[in-house]
Amino acid sequence: MALAYPQPSDELVFFVNGRKVTERQADPEELLLYYLRKKLRLSGTKYGCGVGGCGACTVMISTYDPVAKQIQHHPANSCLLPICSLHGAAVTTVEGVGSIKARIHPIQERLAKCHGSQCGFCTPGMVMSIYALLRNHVRPSMEQIISALDGNLCRCTGYRPIIDSCMSFVGEPTCCQLRGTGQCCLDKEECVCTSSTEGQIHSGLCNPEEFPSMDPTQEFIFPPELMRMAQEQQKTTLVFRGKRTTWISPPSLKELLELKAKYPNAPLVVGNTSVGLKKNHHDTYHPIILHPVRIPEMHVVSSTNNGLVIGAACCLAQLRNILMEAVAKLPQEKTKIYQALLQHLRTLAGEQIRSMASLGGHIVSRGSTWDLNPILSVGKSVLNLASEDGERQILLNDQFLAGCENADLKAKEVVVSVLIPYSLKDDFISAFRQAGSQKNAFSIVNSGMRVLFNPGTDTIVDLSILYGGIGSTTISARKSCKKLIGRQWNDQMLNEACRLVREEIFLPPSAQGGKVEYRRTLLVSFLFRFYLEVLHGLYQMYPFRYAELSQKRMSALGLLQSGVPQGVQIYQMRCDVDPGQSPQDPVGRPIMHQSGIKHATGEAVYIDDIRPVDGELSLAVVTSIKAHAKIISIDALEALQVPGVVDVVTARDIPGENGKDEQAYAEDKVICVGQIICAVVAESLTQAKCGAEKVKIVYEDLEPVLTIEDAIKHNSYITEEKKIEKGDIEKGFKSADEIIEGELHIGGQEHFYLETNSVLVIPRVEDKEMDVYVSTQHVTDVQELVASALNLQSNKIMCHVKRVGGAFGGKITKPSLFAVVAAVAANKTGCPVRFALERNMDMLITGGRHPFFGKYKVGLMNDGRIIAADFQCYINGGCTKDESELVIEYIVLKVDNAYNIPNLRVRGHACKTNLPSNTAFSGFGFPQAGLFMEMCIVAVATQTGLPHEKVREINMYKGVNLTSFKEEFNAENLWKCWEECLDKSDYYNRKAMVEEFNTKNYWKKKGIAIIPMKFSVGFNATYFHQAGALIHIYIDGSVLVTHGGIELGQGIHTKMLQIVSRELKIPLSYIHFCETSTTTVPNGKYTAASVGTEINARAVQDACQILWKRLDPIRRDNPNGRWEDWISEAHKQSISLSATGYFKGYVTDMNWDTQKGHAFPYFLFGVACSEVEIDCLTGAHKNIRTDIIMDACFSINPAIDIGQIEGAFIQGVGLYTLEEIYFSPEGEQLTLGPDTYKIPAICDIPEQFRVYLLPNSRNSIAIYSSKGMGEAGFFLGSSVFFAIRDAVAAARKERGLPLDFTLSSPLTAEQIRMACADVFTEMIPKDKPGTYKPWAINVS
Ligand SMILES: Cc1cc2nc3c(=O)[nH]c(=O)nc-3n(C[C@H](O)[C@H](O)[C@H](O)COP(=O)(O)OP(=O)(O)OC[C@H]3O[C@@H](n4cnc5c(N)ncnc54)[C@H](O)[C@@H]3O)c2cc1C
Ligand code: FES
Ligand code: FES
Repeated sequence: MALAYPQPSDELVFFVNGRKVTERQADPEELLLYYLRKKLRLSGTKYGCGVGGCGACTVMISTYDPVAKQIQHHPANSCLLPICSLHGAAVTTVEGVGSIKARIHPIQERLAKCHGSQCGFCTPGMVMSIYALLRNHVRPSMEQIISALDGNLCRCTGYRPIIDSCMSFVGEPTCCQLRGTGQCCLDKEECVCTSSTEGQIHSGLCNPEEFPSMDPTQEFIFPPELMRMAQEQQKTTLVFRGKRTTWISPPSLKELLELKAKYPNAPLVVGNTSVGLKKNHHDTYHPIILHPVRIPEMHVVSSTNNGLVIGAACCLAQLRNILMEAVAKLPQEKTKIYQALLQHLRTLAGEQIRSMASLGGHIVSRGSTWDLNPILSVGKSVLNLASEDGERQILLNDQFLAGCENADLKAKEVVVSVLIPYSLKDDFISAFRQAGSQKNAFSIVNSGMRVLFNPGTDTIVDLSILYGGIGSTTISARKSCKKLIGRQWNDQMLNEACRLVREEIFLPPSAQGGKVEYRRTLLVSFLFRFYLEVLHGLYQMYPFRYAELSQKRMSALGLLQSGVPQGVQIYQMRCDVDPGQSPQDPVGRPIMHQSGIKHATGEAVYIDDIRPVDGELSLAVVTSIKAHAKIISIDALEALQVPGVVDVVTARDIPGENGKDEQAYAEDKVICVGQIICAVVAESLTQAKCGAEKVKIVYEDLEPVLTIEDAIKHNSYITEEKKIEKGDIEKGFKSADEIIEGELHIGGQEHFYLETNSVLVIPRVEDKEMDVYVSTQHVTDVQELVASALNLQSNKIMCHVKRVGGAFGGKITKPSLFAVVAAVAANKTGCPVRFALERNMDMLITGGRHPFFGKYKVGLMNDGRIIAADFQCYINGGCTKDESELVIEYIVLKVDNAYNIPNLRVRGHACKTNLPSNTAFSGFGFPQAGLFMEMCIVAVATQTGLPHEKVREINMYKGVNLTSFKEEFNAENLWKCWEECLDKSDYYNRKAMVEEFNTKNYWKKKGIAIIPMKFSVGFNATYFHQAGALIHIYIDGSVLVTHGGIELGQGIHTKMLQIVSRELKIPLSYIHFCETSTTTVPNGKYTAASVGTEINARAVQDACQILWKRLDPIRRDNPNGRWEDWISEAHKQSISLSATGYFKGYVTDMNWDTQKGHAFPYFLFGVACSEVEIDCLTGAHKNIRTDIIMDACFSINPAIDIGQIEGAFIQGVGLYTLEEIYFSPEGEQLTLGPDTYKIPAICDIPEQFRVYLLPNSRNSIAIYSSKGMGEAGFFLGSSVFFAIRDAVAAARKERGLPLDFTLSSPLTAEQIRMACADVFTEMIPKDKPGTYKPWAINVS
């Protein structure tokens, strides 16, 4: 219930980009991101997730401390930042850093020129994280830079170019001297671009000499007015009253305590990273919020005889700095707790969250997986509490963490500060955590452990062990610890401790979060590591009394942490660019992305950045909570009562067709959780969401089919079986020396494009015309579906796409449905409608990559030859057809990858289930098929005992050959790539080193794998490849280009400008691209399958050549004239200066009856070699090095193409090693944001990442001999999967375990740990499937 606060509302004053903002009616519920975007129209700051997990919304906050008289700058996630917390602060957004209009900042320029942006949606956030770092450290170290980017996700680039751009701030650029050869890289034929040493960037892909230097005097100064205000208001209570919530910021502890006494339920919001998250998830609201950041006592930092006292309002980044200073100053034995805390403070969240989240907030909100609490607790930290009734101290112990009434703070109390004690000489303290990713991921399990010995002995005097991530709070193995007091620190004690902990800490089989056996294993694995750390510590302290750890045991110590990534990119520039090529001709050169600077300044406009139009309404959808059910009724009465709600739209409001294959609005039945049932349109998004929550739907349950296994059982398929047969498999099996069989499961994948699906529909006044601005890969489909839904001809619907903030196949079919949903609402209300999905809704509704299940039977000869194979492939298509037929066809056609299997049968099935419909995703099924094939190779190598690379070589296509669909092709370049990769990666030497390492390290293993690839570019039908273009030359000589392709980040328009420049022989500066639109180029096919650029390029080239020819007579008459003269003359002679170009498409066909065809336009070969290290105790791994060779040196733009390879590779690493989608047994997706679904972050890329384009690899089919590289790098990410598998195999071999083990994808820490079976995996209890209801099910 709202409690009145007597004081009237104060004026909220803060600065944004040097300009004063005054809010008379500030709403405490308003968050900065939305305020910036909607109120201040600063749309450079992006929405990517709304939960602090992606960094797209990063801004810099500067504050003035009137007591210390200091200005502080820090990065922050504006999506979690209440505007009321900003009183007196200066906010800098990307627009304030620099703009094209004013001045581009060196960070922006370098990021763009180093090709650090593709779709550009993450770029403003990246700029802001680097900017905030540089405001605090003019010459940061590489470690600081990487740490500053921990909290920023990029789905496109693979991070390497972003790191490159930052390198230039560390040191001055110098030549790489070709890594020790002493030669200048620029003198070589090859162009070597490397970022291999700290502070150096040596790039043929960008030119560091062009970079303007940093000039700190150009930055905004902290507004003096705010300094004055901070001084004057030191003693003033600030009150901001909103509609529902009042925000009170008291200036003194006394006043805070009075307020807390008056409003005991009011939270103390500091960083809002916990309260804000809860609010997001549960829409809880607080009538009163107390903001205690101006209270000096809550910022103290002092040292006492017992330890450091740190104010509860200090943020975690400050805590890190304080502890680092203490560790540097104090004797080591006193700082063991601090070192343990620092270990976690390096990996906890991203720098933005670390700069916002407070120590007090962390302690009091005590999430189960919060990392610091177990350490603070074992370290016997003390909370200094205060209330109106006085002060007291309580221990931050397990009972406090469990919220036990007698150990907790009272409602009226606040934590003022925390005493973190010094450690003692005989203390040993360790911190452990294992998360899905090394950084910026919540722990799966964490732990703090401490033992105190009788001085000089190993007799336990005190022992504490706490675990997070096991129950709903951090829990203690208190009883176990008690029983171990008095024991010696030896192996018997360890065995006893493991037994006791297993008995005491119970994790039920259906525990939330799943991974139950893994989590149980971690409990004892951490304990074992602690045991060894202590033994090692004892030896170091008393080397004459305690034995040194054996080498085997030593290998269990130490964390796997990625170092600073380094990159090398080599392409054949000198050959690529013909010696006769004019210097003005940009083809083959690493031209910066046409929108690169705009990405970096935040001036690139995405759908939701389009300013509101008059009368615009916002739309929120109501989605099904059932996987399969009849809709009995929809009751919208209550929703319509919500203030601001204008209407509720259902399928009944569709005048025409309700979608094609998939319904836009469910009619009488729902077929998956997340299916759209109706939409609420309102004056604001908040009102629309509020209305949507009030719609009541009654369902009648029907039996759902969720998994591939279920679908097979129910004979539930989307299409008929797709089959290819080559040779005679029965004969093949008969002549085989051996036959092996196996299975593989591959999980699905979320696209996680940074820009969520968005559409803005604007009805025009006349003729029922409608403009649709939409983030799509397929404008024609949007146009068709909207027209048919509104019962109009397509010529009334104008679709526009300027750019898309990432798509990866996920925006081919789905945006059309969202456009229909919005268009029907716009048609019904007569108003413009904006529909921008929130991240969780986007992930819930859209589906992703198809989960895969494959069964193989392989006939092999003892020499490693595969002579027969029978494959059964299944994909989980979800509830509608979407692209599933194409995906299963591609799986069947591409499954042979690089291998010639003389007798092969492949059968493919697309299963129909009640999951959200899965759709296209980079590689279109090949990433699943290729992994499956490579799994068979591994099985053969295991069976024969031959090295994996030998089995690959034995079975690889050689010379001129026939594919499984009987098409002739030449495998010469496959072999060239293979040899080159073996050589460049120094494979055999490194393999020997890996083996050597493995003999010495029992608990850590390295693995290496080299994987070949035959990738087919394009589609298996000609008409998919058609493309159109329209080019206008204006009288001033400027050129406007349009074509049917869409900018998804792949640089399509940049390449088009390069092509026009070459064809018309004019500088790039003359040429402009505006937008892709159905009004200029009709009937475009979707931009996908790696051919979007080259097919549209052919259409553009065609148009250019038509125009060039028309200008022939004029050029002949005036050969020395300027372009402008020719154009002016042509106009005078009435020569048309506008032309359409058209490309009919590569001829491809596939005849499924004869199982023969020319299924794809051409092949692209590649090979990757990856090396990893795994931690057998936890399952963690680190990517050490990857070398990629791709046979595509005649790139139109090598910077773009290398960026595509790297980006796709890292997405592949995500699919195969990280990204897990979970579904509940009822079919509801449980992973709906970056907090639960981990895409690769900067810490996940290989420490050394090298990409080479194979010299002289011509392509007679595509324009200028180029090849489509959009997706090819993806599958090569599987080299990391197989390197991990290699490492696991080494562990298993040493442990005497069978080597024919199966692993599924993604190969996560959980799988790695459980496959490295040992005494600890053996000792944990196992649950019999079927005896409990699991938290999540396997749908593949
Ligand atoms: C994207 C993201 C990633 C994260 N990753 C990690 C991670 O990897 N590891 C990890 O450990 N944690 C992680 N966290 C959690 C984070 O550590 C906590 O959310 C944070 O420490 C809470 O601090 P706050 O100041 O934001 O709390 P707020 O949200 O402001 O407050 C939280 C609660 O604490 C109470 N409170 C605050 N201060 C006091 C006080 N002085 N006295 C009494 N009560 C008080 C408030 O009343 C409120 O109930 C993550 C959070 C986010 C959003
Ligand atoms: S939008 Fe704020 S972190 Fe993702
Ligand atoms: S460029 Fe980073 S998400 Fe697209």
